[in-house]
Amino acid sequence: MNKTLRRPVIAGNWKMNKTPAQTKALIEELKPLVEGADCEVVLCVPYIDLQAALDAAQGSNIKIGAENCHWAESGAFTGEVSALMLKDMGVPYVIIGHSERRQYFGETDISVRERTRAALDAGLKVILCVGELKEERLDDITAEVVRMQTKLALKDVTEAELENIIIAYEPVWAIGTGLTATPQQANEVNALIRSLIEELYGKNAAEKIVIQYGGSMNEVNAQELLACPDIDGGLIGGASLVAEKFAAVVAAASQ
Ligand code: PGA
Repeated sequence: MNKTLRRPVIAGNWKMNKTPAQTKALIEELKPLVEGADCEVVLCVPYIDLQAALDAAQGSNIKIGAENCHWAESGAFTGEVSALMLKDMGVPYVIIGHSERRQYFGETDISVRERTRAALDAGLKVILCVGELKEERLDDITAEVVRMQTKLALKDVTEAELENIIIAYEPVWAIGTGLTATPQQANEVNALIRSLIEELYGKNAAEKIVIQYGGSMNEVNAQELLACPDIDGGLIGGASLVAEKFAAVVAAASQ
């Protein structure tokens, strides 16, 4: 499959970090460092920081995303934010199904599917996260787990809608641990996801879909990971909080 058909996407996932004032400062620092990058640059930030991020990024090549959204358009869901609200404020991207949401906030493959549906209906671009736990890798069921998560999330997604989906393969044991998957391990699972997309949607869709790797990707290992044939970008946690580190990952994707 021809990698050059896909434009890499480097997305930061700030998680629960940065105040609105810190958001403005970090984006101002980042803007000149990623200007002219030959890849898509996205920053997914806490809800409370979205407006500051949109304002700071205006007129630059940095796109803004949220870190989750609810499946309903509105209603009695105290503390939640809908996809429609994000769309209305001008946010183009949203992360769905991050492993921390699955681990700490009870998200299931079904709620991930429903949130994905709502995000697509609202016209957002989704960064859909999948990945196995350490025990699942040790039990040699990585392929089964990742196939199941991906298939369930995409169950009602059409081929046309798939254009608004990016898949992020994030082995849970590699997130925030400093334990990066080797380029071989990461590429093997990304290739497996691509073959599932081919099975479900055909070769054209499989060739076009952007599949990122995430899990301790940083300024040191990004180049090697991004050189793999099935790794089309990264979802970056820790390293996205430091302008020079994130910019170095963006530069690695731009080569
Ligand atoms: P990390 O996080 O880069 O800090 O491992 C990645 C993620 O959770 O998306």
